Amino acid sequence: MKNPKIVSGFSKLSKTGKIKWLADHFFSNPEEVARELKSFWYGDPQKQKIFDDFSENTISNFFLPYGVAPNVMINGEVYCVPMVIEESSVVAAASSAAKFWMDRGGFKAEVISTKKVGQVHFEWKGDFKKLQRLMSVLKELIHDDTSHITHNMSQRGGGLIDIQLVDLSHLESHYYQLNLTFETCDSMGANFINSTLEETGRILKNFVAHHPSFEKNEKELNIIMAILSNFTPECLVRASVECPVEELGSFNEGEMTASDFAYKFHKALQIAYHDVYRATTHNKGIFNGIDAVVLATGNDFRAVEACGHTYAARDGQYRSLSYASIENGIFRFWLDIPMAIGTVGGLTKLHPLAKRSIEMLGNPSAEDLMKIIASLGLAQNFAAVRSLITTGIQKGHMKMHLMNILNHLEATELEVKDAMIYFTDRIVSFTSVREYLQLLRNNPHGMQIPSPILLYKEEGKK
Ligand code: MEV
Repeated sequence: MKNPKIVSGFSKLSKTGKIKWLADHFFSNPEEVARELKSFWYGDPQKQKIFDDFSENTISNFFLPYGVAPNVMINGEVYCVPMVIEESSVVAAASSAAKFWMDRGGFKAEVISTKKVGQVHFEWKGDFKKLQRLMSVLKELIHDDTSHITHNMSQRGGGLIDIQLVDLSHLESHYYQLNLTFETCDSMGANFINSTLEETGRILKNFVAHHPSFEKNEKELNIIMAILSNFTPECLVRASVECPVEELGSFNEGEMTASDFAYKFHKALQIAYHDVYRATTHNKGIFNGIDAVVLATGNDFRAVEACGHTYAARDGQYRSLSYASIENGIFRFWLDIPMAIGTVGGLTKLHPLAKRSIEMLGNPSAEDLMKIIASLGLAQNFAAVRSLITTGIQKGHMKMHLMNILNHLEATELEVKDAMIYFTDRIVSFTSVREYLQLLRNNPHGMQIPSPILLYKEEGKK
């Protein structure tokens, strides 16, 4: 008997048809589910169509909070930075760190290089040295015969920069690469790079098949694949902050001095450098800031994540992406991170809110956006490490977490106010909040629980 959850021709169904099939086969309350999915459709059908066309089998929209971190000063310019993230505390932490550093000169950011990489992987049983000798001819041919793809990019100041032949036959039999380097100006350039690479693969195959230098048995070359690399260590940005140690101020209500803070901060960074478990969490904190801006500007956060994590492991061990130093009384904290992003092409102008994000940031070039994204990563990292070495992160986190739980349990405004006070110095968990609300709801006039609401009432307050 056919499994009812298996469907054929699903992609050909209308959007309503897809929802109906899905709701009927996977939910116990299909009508309600269908209604709910449709309730997240954009009001304007024209706008909804834009979203539908981004991907396949789209049935609805999945919302995430769109927030902003104001007061982010980078190289003297003040930005209000859009962030898309579901995790509570991230935007608040970035804003607070940005404000902290604005009072101390703000972030400095510089793009170190912007090169992107693509590869043609191939298998060939010919004489490698012969191909190597013919590389200058082949390079010229590739430049000429891909010019119909690269012409516009070259006009904008970018294009195909370099081509290298690499022998990897010691790793895998008869395996070689053409490594291509690109500049893609303000676009991430994935389509441009991949089109050029696929064409290069065809040119290479043809070259070997027809060039008189190759014997009959060398004329067959097998293109395995042609694809950009998301590892772009030479598309690198650095964001940094610094100030005299004493200007860091005091922490923990005056209990921690600036130099104690600087010392502990530096130690925390050393730990993240040496220990892979800590490095992973440390970098996750950096990506809390980075991904949020990458998403808000319609860029590819998976590409940026993959690249950053590979870079973190570039010396063979996964390490922190940020560093701190204390030298001659100066506290310095910086982040080096490669990323391939764009401010034109892709979703950047198609997604209405990504377009607004780019506008909010003053229509930056890709290089400027790299600086903004890296600064937010650094801000986020600073805020996280600052919390960890002072109060611990749970204090700030739990306030937001409590709010999420209260919303989930449909707490009233008064109950929220009440719970915020009650849980000031108590452990927040889903169970503890649910039990607290239950007690509160079951005992509106009781005196059994130490409820601030009741205390307010007793004191005649609202
Ligand atoms: C939580 O999303 C991120 C942190 O764990 C980062 C860190 O530990 O540095 C707070």
